[in-house]
Amino acid sequence: MTTEDQKKAAALAAFDYVKPGMKVGLGTGSTTNHFIRELAVRAKSGLDVECVATSRATFKLASDLGLTMTTLEKHPYLDVTVDGADEFDGSFQLIKGGGGALLVEKIVASSSRYMVVIADQSKKVNTLGRFPLPVEVVPFGVNATAWKIERALKICNLKGKLVLRLKEGKPFVTDSGNAIIDVSIGAIPEPGRLDALLDVIPGVIENGLFVDICGIVLMGTDDGVKTFRKG
Ligand code: 5RP
Repeated sequence: MTTEDQKKAAALAAFDYVKPGMKVGLGTGSTTNHFIRELAVRAKSGLDVECVATSRATFKLASDLGLTMTTLEKHPYLDVTVDGADEFDGSFQLIKGGGGALLVEKIVASSSRYMVVIADQSKKVNTLGRFPLPVEVVPFGVNATAWKIERALKICNLKGKLVLRLKEGKPFVTDSGNAIIDVSIGAIPEPGRLDALLDVIPGVIENGLFVDICGIVLMGTDDGVKTFRKG
């Protein structure tokens, strides 16, 4: 099975958690795109759902495919969000934001009864941190925010290399108009502690650690889809 096949298999398995009448959060990324395409097919055959997108790219794909879109303003409590991840560990903690949509992804997932993560097997890790942690920051004073991120790492006995994310040679701009600093750490033994320290830094909007948000992971493997459920 290719990685793409594994992503697709995980995406199809997510339909066990999607029922008619649900309000569904749609994540961002290549794995979620498989889910969105299949959801559009099933919606045409009568699966009646309303969707909230976590990025402009997802909104465009889902609405182009004819899915009924709604907003979190109209529906502040969603039934389920289906999204990918850059990493997940055995405690259902995630790193997200490789696609730059972490802020809205976190708002939408934490507004949902269930967050179902769909992923290929390369995303499973023993300890988070192999993937650089995306931190969404206000562009103003970005270097001042950066040294405060370094200080937060130090408090956690961690060291990281901070890189301002670029796109085509210019600072990457998120859908919310912010910048992203990618922090290469290697291993984050206490994600909850780092998450809390990062989020109180003035200038940090959100970070890509998802702690206590996800309860179900569907992982595509060569031997089929493995389900991990919390509790
Ligand atoms: C976007 C994300 C994505 O879910 C994450 O990057 C995984 O993407 P893919 O499914 O393409 O591997 O967090 O901000």
